[in-house]
Amino acid sequence: MTRIPNVHDAEPIPPAAREAIDALLQSGDLFRYTAPQDAPVALLEREFADMIGSKYALAVSSCSAALFLSLKALDLPRDARVLIPGFTFAAVPSSVVHADCQPVLCEVGENYRVNLADFEAKLDQDIAAVIISHMRGHTSDMDAIMALCDARGIPVIEDAAHSLGTVWDGKNIGTIGKIGCFSFQSYKMINAGEGGILITDDADLVARAVIMSGAYEHNWKKHKGPHGDNTGALEAAFARWQNQLPLYNLRMSNLSAAVIRPQLPELLRRVRDGRTNHDYVAAKLNTSPFLSVPDPLGPEVRAPDSIQFNLVGMDEAQTRAFAEAAGANGVKVQIFGLSTDNARAFWNWQFIQDLPELPQTRAMLMHACDVRLPVYLKPDQLDAIADVLTSAAAAAAGPLRAYGT
Ligand SMILES: Cc1ncc(COP(=O)(O)O)c(C=O)c1O
Repeated sequence: MTRIPNVHDAEPIPPAAREAIDALLQSGDLFRYTAPQDAPVALLEREFADMIGSKYALAVSSCSAALFLSLKALDLPRDARVLIPGFTFAAVPSSVVHADCQPVLCEVGENYRVNLADFEAKLDQDIAAVIISHMRGHTSDMDAIMALCDARGIPVIEDAAHSLGTVWDGKNIGTIGKIGCFSFQSYKMINAGEGGILITDDADLVARAVIMSGAYEHNWKKHKGPHGDNTGALEAAFARWQNQLPLYNLRMSNLSAAVIRPQLPELLRRVRDGRTNHDYVAAKLNTSPFLSVPDPLGPEVRAPDSIQFNLVGMDEAQTRAFAEAAGANGVKVQIFGLSTDNARAFWNWQFIQDLPELPQTRAMLMHACDVRLPVYLKPDQLDAIADVLTSAAAAAAGPLRAYGT
């Protein structure tokens, strides 16, 4: 029988990272602004921007920091209302609160994507900015969202923490809104333990974010635009904001950049393998009458390293029995709504004033399952995971179905 691996284990970091780290330890040059040029963080920013197709990138300490700086870069007034999906990680409403703004939650459907009717209704309630979390890499309808927001002049920040490598209608996720934010935290396509990056084509936004991230005095001179850009737009923006902004010191260290840079060439392979693995397991799960993996939207080509699926027709006791049976056979299933402290269940974001009820999102979270599916898994391991899940579903739901209850 195939042993099911610990799916929380990460892929090894490429050996080139060790050489880069050794060189840094030798020189002691860990701060991004010590070297006159070409510090690992600066090189990462240029490489990432070129890879994703944006003009500017700013590497920071986490995706949460990138989201916070995005809101600050937009210069939103205190108490501005920021619309976010009701299904995301607690870091997202937290970044809004941290920026002295108010999170407004919209409903998310059975397919884990923003409910557009609720989104549109809430957009007209004095919303100053939108954060779209492509939660677990599920892309909401970005054509509809951009049309609605552009028509009202509302800036969109893409939280692409889980979406590095996902493409929407030929465009890289993160490049569609005004700002895109990515995470390098361990359970992401590129793993530095911690880290994040913000991308944009807007010189003023990036200049503001760079300064607030901790580019004090004239350290901003070490940030460059795209190769061959002689417009002076970035320098002019830095000059406008010099000494005008607080410093939050959310910089990335050269050590993190040294871990990340050798993983960039691995990204396409990881995305390809992750998608193949996901679609293989999804097809198997969809053969069960008790499990349903929502389809991707038409323009979306996903980059998954986990799988989400809904339990069909199970009550809470059966849902718990399913998770227990799967866990007993080596597959840990998270059901987002079934623990008292899940950070992805909106009712646990009790730091939000007047936390609303979202019936559709709540119903989804009570039977939406989450299983990590790291890209290194092999076909026999995928078979074993899919078998455990379909058998556990049949065991939890089957007998009751058989008796017609
Ligand atoms: C959807 C989502 N957005 C943002 C974040 C924040 O990322 P980080 O841990 O890099 O701050 C996370 C964390 O996993 C996340 O799941």
